[in-house]
Amino acid sequence: MFAERVLSGMRPTGNLHLGHYHGVLKNWVKMQDEYECLFFVADWHALTTHYDTPHMIEQSVWDMVVDWLAAGVNPARSTLFIQSKVPEHAELHLLLSMITPLGWLERVPTYKDQQEKLSEKDLSTYGFLGYPLLQSADILIYRSTQVPVGDDQVPHIEFTREIARRFNHIYGREPGFEEKAEAAVRRLGSKKAKLYFELRTRYQEQGDIDALESAKSLLEEQQSLSHGDRERLFGYLEGSGKMILSEPRAMLTAASKMPGLDGQKMSKSYNNIITLREDENNVSKKIRTMPTDPARIRRTDPGDPDKCPVWPLHQVYSSEDMKQWVMKGCKSAGIGCIECKQPVIDAVLEEQRPMRERAQLYLDDPTLVRNIIADGCEKARKLASETMRDVREAMGLDYS
Ligand code: TRP
Ligand code: SF4
Repeated sequence: MFAERVLSGMRPTGNLHLGHYHGVLKNWVKMQDEYECLFFVADWHALTTHYDTPHMIEQSVWDMVVDWLAAGVNPARSTLFIQSKVPEHAELHLLLSMITPLGWLERVPTYKDQQEKLSEKDLSTYGFLGYPLLQSADILIYRSTQVPVGDDQVPHIEFTREIARRFNHIYGREPGFEEKAEAAVRRLGSKKAKLYFELRTRYQEQGDIDALESAKSLLEEQQSLSHGDRERLFGYLEGSGKMILSEPRAMLTAASKMPGLDGQKMSKSYNNIITLREDENNVSKKIRTMPTDPARIRRTDPGDPDKCPVWPLHQVYSSEDMKQWVMKGCKSAGIGCIECKQPVIDAVLEEQRPMRERAQLYLDDPTLVRNIIADGCEKARKLASETMRDVREAMGLDYS
């Protein structure tokens, strides 16, 4: 078992492009070996902005899952699922909404930003305001410890931490907490109990964050701990109540520097993308017709790679030697632009080859994809219902 559980979601936005691959998916693929990973399609989140065109979502969901698989996300290692197939997310979202101050939601920077950016849409809806809270429910329902996100999403993770803290503060109080917590410490065995107390004292008296982290990993390693005791021991470290929902950490993934076909960041809205599984001829054509340094009108005019959008692509894909060759050849008009672009075309096609192959398997037999997702949804639901049991109990909803 892994001590850390990674969760991340993506809204279904249609075909993914190489920017998603370099910025997100490569990282997901790598994390699969190091952590327990859950990756899901945030289709309800897509509805918060696309409530008027819901029928586009279905195709985007399946295209995106095939893209994930094509990129090397491995269903034997990671759990892949769809948000709306795990309705417990909605239940947690509702229950958390009871304790979420409106001001907290209004203050999340993406709220006003997105409303302004997508001003052609009416986003003064309840669902859109609640976007970050739904995201909190996604994260907290799996007791995720790490959430890989780009820096635009960091406020949502911070918000999630505040919600978890507020929930624990309101619902984590139980009669006789201290005694129960101390009894739970003793059940760790004398050596570990001593260590636990030492670390707790270091944290509480000196604010030693490392001690807190060590104590948490000590608890995470204890297989035999009952769930109630685990919550108490986590809660007892930091305060005087049970920790029912655990605070996740944002795992900052280096912002993708993937350049698009025009030198700007690759993005669908700039119309400068190469999709993950783009047809080979299209790839060649798109790169061959890329603009270059405008100073190179004739083949004999020297140019400057720093003024050319092809150069950033060489920086992603080319070896040092190749980059030298470009620098020299461009500045001396020793090479032509078509010649200069060919290695980039080759590198992109090479990168896409295994992706195309993996995707083909799933395109030939779509039931494979359906089964992977059905499996993942089942696993996710099981984890989600465990948390919901504790949440309902803490909120006094476990009556029959
Ligand atoms: N808001 C995220 C984005 O736009 C998508 C998302 C929804 C998400 N729920 C999540 C990401 C939970 C991480 C964890 O990229
Ligand atoms: Fe750009 Fe290469 Fe042409 Fe120079 S030779 S302008 S770097 S494409």
